[in-house]
Amino acid sequence: MKIVNGYDLMNYAKEYHYLLPAFNTTNMEMTYAIAKGLNEARLPGYIQISSNNLRLSSPEAIVALTRDALKDVDTPIALHLDHGKTYEDVKACVDAGFTSIMIDMSHLPFEENVKEVRKAVDYCHFYGIPVEAELGALMGKEDDHVSEADCHTDPAMVKDFVERTGCDLLAVSVGNVHGLDIQPKVDLDLLKEIADVSPVPLVMHGGSGIPFDTIRKGRDAGLLKVNYGSDLRKEFVKTFGQAYEKNPACCSVIELSLDAVDNVAAKAKELVEIINS
Ligand code: G3H
Ligand code: ZN
Repeated sequence: MKIVNGYDLMNYAKEYHYLLPAFNTTNMEMTYAIAKGLNEARLPGYIQISSNNLRLSSPEAIVALTRDALKDVDTPIALHLDHGKTYEDVKACVDAGFTSIMIDMSHLPFEENVKEVRKAVDYCHFYGIPVEAELGALMGKEDDHVSEADCHTDPAMVKDFVERTGCDLLAVSVGNVHGLDIQPKVDLDLLKEIADVSPVPLVMHGGSGIPFDTIRKGRDAGLLKVNYGSDLRKEFVKTFGQAYEKNPACCSVIELSLDAVDNVAAKAKELVEIINS
């Protein structure tokens, strides 16, 4: 299957009341693993990379790898830029073939967040690509980006932000956090309050560590996408770590990489099935 356009994926999920997982990949093995896990579950979702990943390779390489990973897949999967840091990253990913984009300017004051997101939206919408933006900021660690900020999304600012930016998805801060170091305390009442005023569906970042019951209640409240990064990275790193502990002389990277693909795929399949059960 080709990489699916983000709008088509969102409409498919809305039609079948699916909650879309967005799984962060960091390398070739994790990309193949996410495709494998979603395909085995026969459920849709996103493969996503953060701007940090662009230090490891290029948007073109990531698109080519994703295309190959999806060639025998029968479930709709989009390729998403997660936490896009700059307009240049956004352009490079759209030009390379990404089918969904996040521009994250939530660290800026409101008016600057609006201005930067609007600029990225205008570029992406010209190419028929949906845009996720963030209002409010999450605590925690995302790749090597650590944020101490923890300002919850203000429902009173949501409608104005969405209308002025033209974004298609809104990432919210309701007690969710990035990474596994801090215990998330999701405020479902606040999430519902935001969903009631938001003209677009909501996104929950920091999925790892949030109880599944909370995620399912979030789906009923208006979530369309939930991001998982740490849970998958942990499976990948654990595969190599456990092998090394067992036998420091082990160096069969091919066998270990194949095991890592199976372990990450199993985690992705488990997560997408549980949040849609
Ligand atoms: O954008 C990526 C996600 O928000 C990852 O969060 O590592 O807590 O699952 P997580
Ligand atoms: Zn995130």
